Amino acid sequence: MISRRKFLSAGAGALGTALVIPPRRILAAGDKPFQIIEPKPTTAPLTGADKPPVPVWAYHGLVPGPEIRVRRGERVRVRLKNSLPQATSIHWHGIRIDNAMDGVSGLTQDAVPSGGTFDYSFIAPDAGTYWYHPHNKSWEQMARGLYGMLIVDEDTPPDVDRDLAFVADDWLIGKDGTIDEKSFGNLGAWSHGGRLGNWLTVNGLTEPDIPVRAGERIRLRLVNTANARIMAFNFDRLGAQVIALDGQAVAPSSLGPDGLTIAPAQRVDVIVDIDGNPGDTIPVWEVSTRQRLQAARFVLSKAPPLKKRQPEDVVVLAANKLLRAPEPNGAQHIELLMEGGAMGGLREGRIDGRVLSIEELIAKKLVWAFNGDVGRQIKPLATIERGRTAIINMVNKTAFPHAMHLHGHHFRVIERNGKAVWRAPWRDTELVARNEQVRIAFVADNPGKWLFHCHMLEHQAAGMVTWLVVT
Ligand code: C2O
Ligand code: CU
Repeated sequence: MISRRKFLSAGAGALGTALVIPPRRILAAGDKPFQIIEPKPTTAPLTGADKPPVPVWAYHGLVPGPEIRVRRGERVRVRLKNSLPQATSIHWHGIRIDNAMDGVSGLTQDAVPSGGTFDYSFIAPDAGTYWYHPHNKSWEQMARGLYGMLIVDEDTPPDVDRDLAFVADDWLIGKDGTIDEKSFGNLGAWSHGGRLGNWLTVNGLTEPDIPVRAGERIRLRLVNTANARIMAFNFDRLGAQVIALDGQAVAPSSLGPDGLTIAPAQRVDVIVDIDGNPGDTIPVWEVSTRQRLQAARFVLSKAPPLKKRQPEDVVVLAANKLLRAPEPNGAQHIELLMEGGAMGGLREGRIDGRVLSIEELIAKKLVWAFNGDVGRQIKPLATIERGRTAIINMVNKTAFPHAMHLHGHHFRVIERNGKAVWRAPWRDTELVARNEQVRIAFVADNPGKWLFHCHMLEHQAAGMVTWLVVT
């Protein structure tokens, strides 16, 4: 019998031989070694330096998790090492990804058990602002702090002085200063607007100072990682131009007085020109409620101002070339009736063909339906031939807005409330207001099983989830 020790020494010998060739050559050309991302319980100073740190779950002990950054067309290689007390997975939100790497537990992979690992390896085809998060019990895991940025750099990044992430989250903090765990799975939240928080953080901090210099031009990458809260931001007296939505370039447009609305999971890239005198502070406001909140503030250093950009000197991002325009002639039409929730009048719903009364559904905490089906069914919503355009007509008959997210593709809104919409931006997550009808179109050019769900995570868990097959 080979003793363990012997086995190890044989291994060392083999390694010795391997060292003759440069270690990089062991990897395929252009590949980097796996970056380990380890979600685990830890604490984070969410509520301020004067308060005790809050127990959270975090990737690598950080909220947000480590920023993953690659060039467009480069491979992302991440080894998930699960040190959580629960099974998990990682979904790469907004990446038009190889299906096997999409990270949806129960659909594209099994959830990785506590103590297990999983290797993710995929090409990031489009430049832009993306993010990663669990796709197993995400309503709990994301609320506990699991999310991070995935940034894909343009071939020629725009001319800005700095590129900063602005990761907004709302936490539900109890009286004892820790995450309110009792509210996980609360039927009231699941059947209404989701589990809304009471504490806003930016980059995992309360009202952080963002040090800047007068005259600086900043690319700010905003993402809303909240379970359910639709947020809105404005930059006080600073000029801001939106240059990308959900990772895809848009023609630059100035921010209106209502600020920038960002539904859960959406991203917005803005160019902010820091205008002021050395020593000034300028707030960033969260303005989605009547009571505006200071989300963060720019603090201008004492350094002499940089030369101001001219107003006509705008940043225009190059469009990602690989996105194909939908072709409405010959498209496949798919209906999606959204029903249920509080004040939604749902009487019954189906699970894999079996009809359940609303009482039975409530007992299972399934209170929302797509076309009468509650939760993910064995059968997909539709099967689409690869390369064909699909048009999904979403009709929201519920009393709540929903942030509908399609995996593996970006789509365009082509109609809203019966009116045609021209040249809408590419998105991967679209807000559908109560009583609204929204038609979206995309070329189903990515084969696999793709989830389509509400990104208000309690709604997803309580029934608003379906999937598509691209053959
Ligand atoms: Cu951001 Cu299905 O998820
Ligand atoms: Cu929803």
